Amino acid sequence: MTTTLPIRSIPHASPTPPDKRQALMQNPGFGKVFSDHMVTVKWNAENGWHDAELRARAPFAIDPAASVLHYAQEIFEGMKAYRTAQGIALFRPEENARRMAQSAERMAMPAVPEELFLDAVRTLVRKDADWVPHDDGSLYLRPFMFASESFLGVRPASEYIFCVIASPVGAYFKGGYKAVSVWVSSDYTRAAPGGTGAAKCGGNYAASLIAQAEATRNGCDQVVFLDAAEHRWVEELGGMNVCFVMDDGSLVTPPLGGTILPGITRGSILTLAREAGLRVEERPYSFEQWRKDAESGKLREAFACGTAAVIAGIGTVRFADGSFAIGNSGDGEVTARLRAQLLGIQRGTAADTHGWVRPVA
Ligand code: PLP
Ligand code: COI
Repeated sequence: MTTTLPIRSIPHASPTPPDKRQALMQNPGFGKVFSDHMVTVKWNAENGWHDAELRARAPFAIDPAASVLHYAQEIFEGMKAYRTAQGIALFRPEENARRMAQSAERMAMPAVPEELFLDAVRTLVRKDADWVPHDDGSLYLRPFMFASESFLGVRPASEYIFCVIASPVGAYFKGGYKAVSVWVSSDYTRAAPGGTGAAKCGGNYAASLIAQAEATRNGCDQVVFLDAAEHRWVEELGGMNVCFVMDDGSLVTPPLGGTILPGITRGSILTLAREAGLRVEERPYSFEQWRKDAESGKLREAFACGTAAVIAGIGTVRFADGSFAIGNSGDGEVTARLRAQLLGIQRGTAADTHGWVRPVA
């Protein structure tokens, strides 16, 4: 497939030598090592999308009055390229393109056409294919867009830059796939009805950082947000959705309703869980009930899910007045099975019956 906007390739003057690249990819962690190139595309009100380029990854020169620096008009996506037996593949990239378009609409920004989004991502992955790890890591892709117009009035900007960068990554959490601990925030909320919770905009994460820092101070890996109106219903984690596995064969997860991010991992897991015979219930679940169910044993497992984390069991829940454990505080059986199945599909070792995997190279 081609886009109507060709991506011009500008040669890199000094790409990373292979031995240095291999050393950088030994133990990359998450989001600290970056590949050699990036794709950039500009938009303005007069010309629409133009100047699509694949070029050396380099700092942007933006004006100090660029609106993103003042009013945070910025959105992003997170997706991964995996090495499979057949080559390199993306997982449901059209879903990221669609969600980015929805985020753009909420943030009064122009949508990147789906084909241009996909072309930009595929072009970067092909160019930086050597940066896709050969072990169980992956190449994390970060498409993002920001308001670059220099103007201090408050209104949607009339100039934007869309960019895709790539980062070879290992596990998001330090302990790999060992169960994580979460901190339930009682002081802070992430998103209110009518707000931007369902959009993947930088501002949501900026507002979450103080709560994430509180979680870290309390020895936890991630923060859990409750709803803004009643401070009662579980919504999601700082950077992941959350699911609960009950002793009656049901899998409960908070419903999408504008205040949580519609995770692509979440959606995929719900499909796999239904196929595995679990009864999927997208319904409000209160923190109080969570605690009771964990204590009574009705709640067998809980897990966090997202592109970066894949699926991570939740072993311990801490909050201002105490803590409780879930199941055996480790990785539950359903959690492990769903993770193995999802990773198997992504890496081409399990049947892709839904056509989710898109080969790129
Ligand atoms: N919720 C939040 C706040 C996130 O940042 C993410 C990660 O992207 C998710 C949920 C999971 O979304 P996805 O599965 O599409 O990565
Ligand atoms: C992702 O999973 O892609 C995210 O954006 C979440 C973030 C915690 C890295």
